[in-house]
Amino acid sequence: VSERRAPIGAEDAAFGGGKIILLGEHAVVHGKPAIAAGIARGVRARARALGPGDPGGDRLRVSPWGVDVGPARAGAARDGAPRDGAAGDAVAGDGAAGDAAARDGAAGDGLARAFAALLDALDADRAAAGLPPRPRLRVDAEVGLPGGAGLGCSAALGVAVVRALDAATGTPRDEAGVVARSLDWERVFHGTPSGIDNTVAARGGLVWFSRGEGGLRVEPLVPRTPLRLVVADTGLPGATRETVASVRRQLERAPERTQKTLDAIETVVRNGRVAIEGGDLRGLGQLLDMNQWLLASLLVSTPELEALCASARAAGALGAKLTGGGGGGCMIALAEDEAHAEHLAIVLGGRAREAFVVTVGRAAGRGEGKGAGR
Ligand code: MEV
Repeated sequence: VSERRAPIGAEDAAFGGGKIILLGEHAVVHGKPAIAAGIARGVRARARALGPGDPGGDRLRVSPWGVDVGPARAGAARDGAPRDGAAGDAVAGDGAAGDAAARDGAAGDGLARAFAALLDALDADRAAAGLPPRPRLRVDAEVGLPGGAGLGCSAALGVAVVRALDAATGTPRDEAGVVARSLDWERVFHGTPSGIDNTVAARGGLVWFSRGEGGLRVEPLVPRTPLRLVVADTGLPGATRETVASVRRQLERAPERTQKTLDAIETVVRNGRVAIEGGDLRGLGQLLDMNQWLLASLLVSTPELEALCASARAAGALGAKLTGGGGGGCMIALAEDEAHAEHLAIVLGGRAREAFVVTVGRAAGRGEGKGAGR
């Protein structure tokens, strides 16, 4: 059964943005700094309070995945719902949910559990603030970026849903609160996320992110020269959960070697900050390449990502690397300027599922140009 819905308009929708990691993914999970930027693509969501005459309970519908879930709480299946897929009857979809959503590990059961986590937290937050119980809610989300591709789709969805729930229920929450709630959501999908994806999804811009013993530190960065990057999608599913687990295993089994690699990534990230703030695009490009070699040595790259990086370099990119969790998904290439970025997008677009230009460093910090695709 499908219901016709109007597209979610930009003006009244809650938004969570996608992101690219310029330098430092994976090492950031282990307390190292990383540099990431919000992109214009993301997820819009709107929540509507159901009236007394409206049937049904809380629902989250995600298009274009065709996913329609109710909240699934731990133990619910044991209480009678079918065990298959953990969410039992909480999940309905048209089957097409598979591709995009499953690429993100975000298909049905994960979404249902993550949705339940947000609703439970919302109820607790409202009770703590002395607010009355909320109505049943219907959330519609529209995903505007590839899922499971290293662009922070699940975090963008989490941020958009948190904001939509808050808007529909008049629940006040500042940006730090949105970041905290969306991290609960991310944990369902990615196990032990560093928090970089949902932080950038909530705030956008170019940021220096570090998570150490002193807690979370997020600083805005201002590039001296705008960065023109091309994002290209291999079209193959990324595997953040698995690649993060694999790096953790390497740390356990070969601590010295793996730690050295993470330390080397940290040096690359620190030098990257200097290059960004000093407008040294060539230096930054070399650092992207170095970061890619280090990531490959952690076994999180793939032949397809390497091939796109090689094509980008052959077409004059200043540097290229995978972005996000790897194991599939997207890569980024640094261009010399806008015209070169458009050229690179065409070259990579011919070899990738899709390629598009991202400009980092314009006033709003989110910017996207023309794209091309296979
Ligand atoms: C995923 O976008 C980035 C990783 O470093 C994981 C994380 O930071 O949570 C691979």
